[in-house]
Amino acid sequence: MGSNPTFPKVTFERGPLRGDVRVAGDKSISHRALIVAAAARGTSRISALNRGADVLATLAAVGALGASVDDRGDAVLVSGGTLHDPRETIDARNSGTTTRLLLGLCAGHGLNARFDGDASLRRRPMERVARPLRELGAEIETTDGRLPATVRGIVAPAGGTYALEIASAQVKSAILLANLDARGTVRVTGDRFSRDHTERMLRRFGRTIRFDGTTVEMEPGRLAAQDVRVPGDLSGAAFFLAGAAMTPGSDIVVREVGVNGTRTGFVDALRAMGADVEMGGERDLDGEPVADVRARYRPLHGTTLDGELVVRSIDEITLLACVAAHATGTTFIRDAADLRGKESDRLATIAETLRACGVAVEERPDGLDVTGGGARAPERTLATHDDHRIAMAIAALAAPVGPHRIDDEACIAVSFPDFVPLWHAAQRSD
Ligand code: S3P
Repeated sequence: MGSNPTFPKVTFERGPLRGDVRVAGDKSISHRALIVAAAARGTSRISALNRGADVLATLAAVGALGASVDDRGDAVLVSGGTLHDPRETIDARNSGTTTRLLLGLCAGHGLNARFDGDASLRRRPMERVARPLRELGAEIETTDGRLPATVRGIVAPAGGTYALEIASAQVKSAILLANLDARGTVRVTGDRFSRDHTERMLRRFGRTIRFDGTTVEMEPGRLAAQDVRVPGDLSGAAFFLAGAAMTPGSDIVVREVGVNGTRTGFVDALRAMGADVEMGGERDLDGEPVADVRARYRPLHGTTLDGELVVRSIDEITLLACVAAHATGTTFIRDAADLRGKESDRLATIAETLRACGVAVEERPDGLDVTGGGARAPERTLATHDDHRIAMAIAALAAPVGPHRIDDEACIAVSFPDFVPLWHAAQRSD
């Protein structure tokens, strides 16, 4: 794929990042807004929705499952509460969140559906979500643990306690969504740090959900339609903040970004590396904390990223490996084996990327050792492996020492369709 001349290519140049930006809406929150609105009676109005291909896959899927969807451009109106079996296979495209959350929704709403996706999604593990949904009583068939998968759902599950095998917001969310019509209290244990956007979205739609630091507890109840404005995506802002933190002359502010503590591991990690990152104007936006986040250049040093910090920055670990490449000393990344099951094997793909840029990297089963100081522009086009976050991490990697050319710009549209023009504008502004 990397050498296919028909893929659109882009070159990321060297240069500081400056100015004020607004990034795409939060992808995780956008999926949840659509799905919870589809389950709720009445019409919800969702604004600042992420318009990437993953969220559009969820938008199409909730329509296929019986929600009525009216896209007004500045907002999407979703009328829900009367779900039915889809007529055709649900195509989740590249989106793990679409697949896993909707498998959950179907499993507890008596829905029968078949799910499939692109080549990357077909490689990703689905048993992690199938197992707890079978516990609930649904029949789930996977293809050797992967897609295509079918679900035969049940109605009004009993409730009860579910112990998660891994810290995964997608699995936790699938269980909660499967139990929206449960007759009794539902408890989910075994995951203390993964993102809690589903819990917050359900609360906004009127459900009683508690979290005492170890157990999520959801009471039976109804959902009532709501208006939701989606915060900017910290995972999209992260490329601008990281690029600025490591490139002399940079000073950038990203406006109205989600700063939910289950997502800010990236900011904590940057600060642990000595970065100058400030949050201002913290406020609530429809149940999620947001702020304006500013990053300026300062020399950085290596650190250790492991445990809870990795869970709270799971989608930014590859980017942090790029920051480590421009810091002094060695950064040790551990407890990150789950990255091997993302859109690409992200430990392997970012190690390959960094090595092509002259960086010393040791790959471990659950992490990387990245020694900074040697990063330079690569001699060849870099492969994105069809992974949007690898493509955008390369933009940040290039800011201090580019140019870096990537083999495929198109994959960026999975989460952040306007990324390239916004990036180029931030490198031009004074
Ligand atoms: C997501 C959860 C994370 C993350 C993914 C989005 C979500 O996956 O990597 O990009 O929206 O719930 P896991 O829950 O599998 O760790």
